[in-house]
Amino acid sequence: MTATEPGTAPVVLIAEELAPSVLEVLGTEVEIRHVDGADRDALLPALADAAAVMIRSATQIDAEALAAAPALKVVARAGIGLDNVDVAAATERGVMVVNAPTSNIVSAAEHAVALLLAAARQIPAADATLRGGQWKRSTFMGVEVTGKTVGVVGLGRIGVLFAQRMAAFDVTLIAYDPYIQPGRAAQLGVRLVSLQELLRESDFISIHLPKTPETVGLVGAEQLAMTKKGVIIVNAARGGLVDEAALAEALRSGQVGAAGIDVYAEEPSTDSPLFGLPNTVVTPHLGASTAEAQDKAGTAVALSVRLALQGSSCPMR
Ligand code: NAD
Ligand code: MLT
Repeated sequence: MTATEPGTAPVVLIAEELAPSVLEVLGTEVEIRHVDGADRDALLPALADAAAVMIRSATQIDAEALAAAPALKVVARAGIGLDNVDVAAATERGVMVVNAPTSNIVSAAEHAVALLLAAARQIPAADATLRGGQWKRSTFMGVEVTGKTVGVVGLGRIGVLFAQRMAAFDVTLIAYDPYIQPGRAAQLGVRLVSLQELLRESDFISIHLPKTPETVGLVGAEQLAMTKKGVIIVNAARGGLVDEAALAEALRSGQVGAAGIDVYAEEPSTDSPLFGLPNTVVTPHLGASTAEAQDKAGTAVALSVRLALQGSSCPMR
């Protein structure tokens, strides 16, 4: 493929760090520009002549951003969640929205398992103490996972992969997901229950929901009060699904024994109430941050962008 003259090729605006495979797949018939999508003052003018914008979770493509992008044909989300894209406003403007719904599901499920185990055995706190020169065996008493009840909130692609991995620990698996057929859950060895039952019965709870008006705040102070004392909670889905202030209070009181958290109501976040507590394991939205997931997400959405700019219809993949 030959390089296109500057100024004549469609502009693809890359607004977040994406895998190197993105540039290979986009090829030379587009003009690639870069901007920091989290910086609104830089993003809005950069969108002025963009035909495509490629993002992860830190860039808000809302109605204002779409209005600033009159030439836009496609918004490409190199990942799953579309809660940072106003899909309705894009559709109204005839702008296609593509994502990569299976690209990072294994990585996200593995990260949830990692957070659960790290919280159960207080690994980061023990690590920090030892590196700080203190040998404290009795401080870090953990709990076993085997034989316990694990509650999965949202039994979609990631929830299923998480449940399958947890099954290896010989646990009882229950899930809350009103949109899943009981037969499908039974095939997976998972019993579907109400949210209240899940809260009451689980020793470990992992959240795997999309962020929607229905799911924001689904687990708040009232729900946390219904849990088994000492429950361990993992959220590697989206910030705000579990109320951060209520969770911090429950961790302080011991109602929640520990929590593994990857996502926050406000991101980037450096001052969540969870960060000062000894019984939390926290990561900065790393669920999809593996070489494999980023490569798959980048390749898939770059291909969709190419097709969209060539005028082909490209289904969400
Ligand atoms: P999915 O659509 O396959 O599964 C979501 C499940 O949630 C579905 O089964 C759906 O029925 C269920 N659900 C929806 N609304 C519900 C409600 N109100 N109550 C109960 N269940 C409800 O999505 P997925 O691929 O499993 O991903 C889930 C979410 O994980 C994504 O939307 C994204 O926000 C998040 N995610 C985070 C990371 C990360 O880096 N931490 C990585 C990938 C995905
Ligand atoms: C996603 O929804 O795919 C995740 O938030 C991962 C990401 O964007 O990095």
